[in-house]
Amino acid sequence: MNQPAPVTWKSRWTFILAATGSAVGLGNIWKFPYITGENGGGAFVLVYLACILLIGIPVMIAEIMVGRTGRSDPIHSMLALSRESGGTKVWGLVGGIGMIAGLMIMMFYSVVAGWALEYVFQSVSGNYHGADPAQIEAHFNELLTSDSQQLIWHSLFSFITATVVAAGVAKGIGKAVEILMPLLFLFLIILVGYSAINGDFSAGLHFMFDTDFSRLSGDAILIAMGHAFFTLSLGMGAIMAYGAYFPGHASIGKTVMTIAVLDTVIALLAGMAMFPLVFANGLTPGQGPGLMFVTLPVAFSNMTGGVFFGSLFFALVSIAALSSSISLIEPGVAWLEKQNINRRLSTYGLGLIAWVGGVASIHYSAVFDALDYITANIMLPLGGLLIALFVGWRLDPKRVLDETGMANGPLFSAWRFVLRFIAPFGILVVFLHSLGLFSALQALFD
Ligand code: PHE
Repeated sequence: MNQPAPVTWKSRWTFILAATGSAVGLGNIWKFPYITGENGGGAFVLVYLACILLIGIPVMIAEIMVGRTGRSDPIHSMLALSRESGGTKVWGLVGGIGMIAGLMIMMFYSVVAGWALEYVFQSVSGNYHGADPAQIEAHFNELLTSDSQQLIWHSLFSFITATVVAAGVAKGIGKAVEILMPLLFLFLIILVGYSAINGDFSAGLHFMFDTDFSRLSGDAILIAMGHAFFTLSLGMGAIMAYGAYFPGHASIGKTVMTIAVLDTVIALLAGMAMFPLVFANGLTPGQGPGLMFVTLPVAFSNMTGGVFFGSLFFALVSIAALSSSISLIEPGVAWLEKQNINRRLSTYGLGLIAWVGGVASIHYSAVFDALDYITANIMLPLGGLLIALFVGWRLDPKRVLDETGMANGPLFSAWRFVLRFIAPFGILVVFLHSLGLFSALQALFD
């Protein structure tokens, strides 16, 4: 039997761009600034950074390693490594649950991406240019209460995502991200510059970096940890699926640092582009999800060249969303392909399921909120916990050393230690804390 040659990215650099494309998305530009706003700023940012460093980065190395070693979809990669190390088939479930989590995320992600598409349209037609803030806010509220409007843009975005995935990931995304990611970065920098000149930059900086731990609730810590998983696309097999196409045997450590740093810098830049404008306009950053869809248009509406910059900004947000959404359904598609169902059918089938869920989250905001909360705060950290335990405790350390391509030195030992002890312990503590178990215990002893 002749096996076809395994699909790989053109180079390690293409993998970095694809993984960064997956990581950088609505999470960085839409979600991070507003959850930071809702959770009081500085201290939240610090907890989030700690989670990236102590949980996100170690788990990402583990995910890529499993994908690259297994060279298959997350279920089969987990199964293969488990079998090889004498473990049970149950580990395959981690991939399966991840696949489902990906579809669940897509069910609200594509709705928000649809809003971004609508804003491209609004910006290009100059509709909010010169409008006053109240009008712009009213427009966003109208969009949120119009099922039919949202349905159009949600469907369009879902269709574009499915078309790209159906055409094959390696060729399509690889080329696209090479052009789009640098552009997105450039535009954020331009916006930060604008914000520094026209906004209240020091208020923005103070808000993001002054740490006042008394403002940090237990739930905020869970949200910070959940967001670390969400923003790095971890715990559901997206990065694992992409890792299966990783060419060659280069060290995973450096690659992961690059992706994580890019993702974090872009999230911080997005905050620095937005908060100074929020403060300069006398708004409060705690206002929630509307931050990007109200505050930024307000800024653009006053900017010279605002029509052009606004259009480009929302186009790039849409594209950043697209390079992420593709990775949300890829694990499922890869798995179905492995069952000999052709890629086209697999993609449109899964796309349809996600689309239906999206329709539900358009109509019921409770569905939207539940999908967001359950995936980011429960399913992704749980997936990450299991992956950390699997690679840290189940697999043979020699095999792990070999497959990460890292040198057998202090860096490898530090990574493995964090993966075995710190990350799982951290995730568990945050879970227990948010379940209120600690306060319940405390009450018992009082
Ligand atoms: N990381 C993406 C973002 O920040 C979202 C995502 C989560 C994508 C999980 C893939 C997997 O927008």
